Amino acid sequence: MQIFVDSADYKQIEHWLEEGVVDGATTNPSIMFKDGVPDIEEGARKLAALLQERPLSVEVTTNDRATMLQEARTFATWARNIVVKIPVVNEHGESCLGVMHRLTEEGIAINATAILSFNQAILAAKAGATYVSIFAGRVADEGNDPAVVIRNVRNWLEEWKVPARIIVGSIRTVMDIQSAALAGAHIITIPPQFLPKMVDHRYTRETVRQFVQDAEKTLAQMSKAKVQVATTGAR
Ligand code: E4P
Repeated sequence: MQIFVDSADYKQIEHWLEEGVVDGATTNPSIMFKDGVPDIEEGARKLAALLQERPLSVEVTTNDRATMLQEARTFATWARNIVVKIPVVNEHGESCLGVMHRLTEEGIAINATAILSFNQAILAAKAGATYVSIFAGRVADEGNDPAVVIRNVRNWLEEWKVPARIIVGSIRTVMDIQSAALAGAHIITIPPQFLPKMVDHRYTRETVRQFVQDAEKTLAQMSKAKVQVATTGAR
């Protein structure tokens, strides 16, 4: 399973890349705004260079499907690792599957985004999307179980040998990450504030404290024994 960072924060992505746990990153216009990226092109180019060959998802900024095509073609020229996020429908409920299909045929990698149901996911996968982004938190907002949607989509992709990969986004708690991983996500895109919570544990700290204290005692004993040997020749 891969881990992406759901962020446009350069320093956070750099930090977690150095920790060796990042396989890519996802953004959207809200994330860019929150993380203080004023210029999409400049921000995307910088993040894409930081990520090197790892994918960076950048989302179109319009409801108009012809404009989506144009934006996607432009985004794809910024860096080889840019994946264009296209919502499964626009805010008027018009299907964007044709946009995904056309761009896929042109060789542009697509992340089908804002997916909230099994049916949306399988259609986006059929249309050629490289990634289908299931928004776990928002699925749960609607009273549905994201784990069931993730598991069903994963089973369907495998049964029919459709190559799309599931990204689980809209992570709201650390437990969402565990649930998505066990439900069969290929990738989970994690807001950076959850990563320190995933790695830390109070009892691990206590355990390490005990080892360090005992190591100090052992080292003290060893140096005392060495002094004895040096002064008395005793062993
Ligand atoms: C995923 O790619 C999205 O950027 C993100 O996870 C959306 O989630 P949210 O808007 O519900 O937080």
